Amino acid sequence: MSEAAERQGKETCVPVLTASNVVRRFGGLVAVNNVSFHVKAGEILGLIGPNGAGKTTMFDLLAGSILPTSGDILLNGTRVSGEAAHLRIGRGLGRTFQIPRPLPNLTLIENIMLAAQGQAGEKLLANFLTPWRVAAQEKAARTKALELLELVTLSHLAHEPARVLSGGQRKLLELARVMMADPAIILLDEPAAGVNATLLEVIIDRIRDINARGITFLLIEHNIDMVTRLCHRVLVMASGQLLSEGTAEEVARDPRVIEAYLGGTA
Ligand SMILES: Nc1ncnc2c1ncn2[C@@H]1O[C@H](COP(=O)(O)OP(=O)(O)O)[C@@H](O)[C@H]1O
Ligand SMILES: [Mg+2]
Repeated sequence: MSEAAERQGKETCVPVLTASNVVRRFGGLVAVNNVSFHVKAGEILGLIGPNGAGKTTMFDLLAGSILPTSGDILLNGTRVSGEAAHLRIGRGLGRTFQIPRPLPNLTLIENIMLAAQGQAGEKLLANFLTPWRVAAQEKAARTKALELLELVTLSHLAHEPARVLSGGQRKLLELARVMMADPAIILLDEPAAGVNATLLEVIIDRIRDINARGITFLLIEHNIDMVTRLCHRVLVMASGQLLSEGTAEEVARDPRVIEAYLGGTA
């Protein structure tokens, strides 16, 4: 069993991630206005809403790249509201970016291995005192990186520079990169945007496979077909507030959701 699955198995009753009355202001603008929800262990939860709804701000708050004006964020039951992003990664939260920017001249495997930093190799003193440990960790990281590249169907490009990748392949590399830290939950920001139809099917399949390993997902996506096929539950945000919650079919029928999309800028 993977570390992440084990971690979740022990705490099936505790939501992986909780937002509790979260508010975020930018000057006079309330980008996220008193939003509360849970992400249950093992689910794929969708987050949709018109442009400007506050979805990306919500992701930034969950991941710790910005802090809430008020309200709380809990990871596996622990309050992390004021905690920096790298500490939340250490607690099992992974996040992909809408526009992944791998280092173009490093190979795929080198790009992924960068994500495994923070281990002994980074600490100079440890490096000096226990070089064998560092070498063993590096070897283990390389093996894991190769396995993850295989998982996202990119192993044939492992030693190519990242610049050769298409937009869709970059999204797959991004998925492998976050997996390197053994996340319990992965926040995916628009994984389908700019991806061709063939690669989109690969991405959907990979998300399903990774979810079957016990990893939870929260997914921002405009592609409703993808949301309907993947998400067990969907949250809808509009004008900073949580508007509706249910299955993809349920929220699509909700008159408040229809009005938000018609009245919004999406
Ligand atoms: N750093 C920021 N400074 C000021 N306003 C921001 C900032 N980030 C987002 N906003 C505003 O917050 C609102 C929500 O934006 P965002 O979270 O990006 O929405 P979405 O991702 O749903 O399209 C928008 O009105 C946006 O202009
Ligand atoms: Mg956005």
